[in-house]
Amino acid sequence: MEQSKKYLLILLVLVTAFTLYNFNIYTSETNYTTIRLSKKAIEGENIWLQNNCNSCHQIYGLGGYLGPDLTNVYSTKGKGEKLIKTIVNSAIKSMPKFNFNEDEKDLLVQFFKEIDQTGHYPDINATISKDGWVTIKNKTLENEKK
Ligand code: HEC
Repeated sequence: MEQSKKYLLILLVLVTAFTLYNFNIYTSETNYTTIRLSKKAIEGENIWLQNNCNSCHQIYGLGGYLGPDLTNVYSTKGKGEKLIKTIVNSAIKSMPKFNFNEDEKDLLVQFFKEIDQTGHYPDINATISKDGWVTIKNKTLENEKK
């Protein structure tokens, strides 16, 4: 085969593969759309946004870095609802004191509760054994298996 024809054929194959690949990515369904926050949780999210909590805190790693990531604060042992409700009005370390009433605290808790159900952050749990072998476990997948 003539050299230029060969290149043209390779180009054609690559363009076709690229097109099919993209078609597949953009048309295949994901299950993300099934996650919906309740009305209460959205009100909680509004409190979160209006008070700039995300200037210091992250959800799924996105946000400011003065305070800890709060994606799974609701389900973390020893934390959860009680800690959330106490900490927001108590001015601990560099966290400012807010004056939320019980209703507002409930809404915030609802927000944390619902985002907690969408996954884990950080998602991987890495353990290093004595021989230097690293085992990585994906927390969200582990939980889905249960
Ligand atoms: C100026 C920065 C700042 C802002 C704004 C802020 N926080 Fe914090 N927050 C912190 C810091 C720092 C800590 C860690 C305190 C500690 O370790 O004792 C914290 C801790 C927390 C914790 C406990 C987390 C844990 O894992 O122990 C919660 C829950 C929390 N903040 C919620 C909020 C909410 C809700 C808002 C908004 C209404 C908010 N924070 C706004 C800085 C901030």
